[in-house]
Amino acid sequence: MDWGMQNRLGRLIQPDGHCFFLPIDHGYFQGPTSKLEKPGETIKPLIPYADGLFVTRGVLRSSVDPRNCPPIILRVSGGSSIIGKDLAHEAVTTSVEEALRLNVAAVGMSIFVGSDYEYDSLVNLGKLVDECQKYGLPVMAVTAVGKELEKRDARYLGLCCRIAAEFGATIVKTYWCENFEKVVNGCPVPVVMAGGPKCETELEVFEFVYDGMQRGAIGLNLGRNVWQHEYPVAIMKALRAIIHEKASAKEAEGIFKEEKKKK
Ligand code: 5RP
Repeated sequence: MDWGMQNRLGRLIQPDGHCFFLPIDHGYFQGPTSKLEKPGETIKPLIPYADGLFVTRGVLRSSVDPRNCPPIILRVSGGSSIIGKDLAHEAVTTSVEEALRLNVAAVGMSIFVGSDYEYDSLVNLGKLVDECQKYGLPVMAVTAVGKELEKRDARYLGLCCRIAAEFGATIVKTYWCENFEKVVNGCPVPVVMAGGPKCETELEVFEFVYDGMQRGAIGLNLGRNVWQHEYPVAIMKALRAIIHEKASAKEAEGIFKEEKKKK
């Protein structure tokens, strides 16, 4: 692997081989998502606990301090919205030149396997990888399901992750599911878990994250379950313990309860 690629991945993936990314890219198709209306304010207390920030160029330039931020994963796909015809209809919307100008550690785009736009998103991924390889820029493929959350099982997600890896993705972000090892074992590149809508309890979040880590994920890219929570710093500290300190879900819950008192 070229030096630049290694250096960028080393900024995102910590020496223990694990990572905790904070995604705040939701506005690119959801608009001002709850608690992300003013992204700069929301992320300010969370910055010290994130190994990476997944964000669009618009929010990066307008709301993120270039002198005080974790390594950036730039969201470079988009083109549809929650009120449009089909969330899967995306293109690459930000150039690699722009990504390099912004000094990002990686770029990320969604693929929509099984959708009407499967072909387009996969060909776009291949082209993006071609371009990024020239500059040693890692590509994180996001296996998106659009509105069809029921698609989140090991068979489907395993198919998506493997295809993303075959097209050259450096890292794949996918949803956690039952039997997550089936997803990881069929994917020859590192897999990071995404979150999905906010869970009912903190323990529910800690349990799925712990389970996914045990089954081979290298880390987490969790948004709404962090910044839509009343105690986002406490949640992040507890999750960091699972990801970087081998804490169990119950231990993480204990950390959360202690940290919550400090608010
Ligand atoms: C949305 C994304 C998010 O990065 C991903 O869904 C993780 O966020 P959350 O935990 O809120 O689901 O790709 O565009």
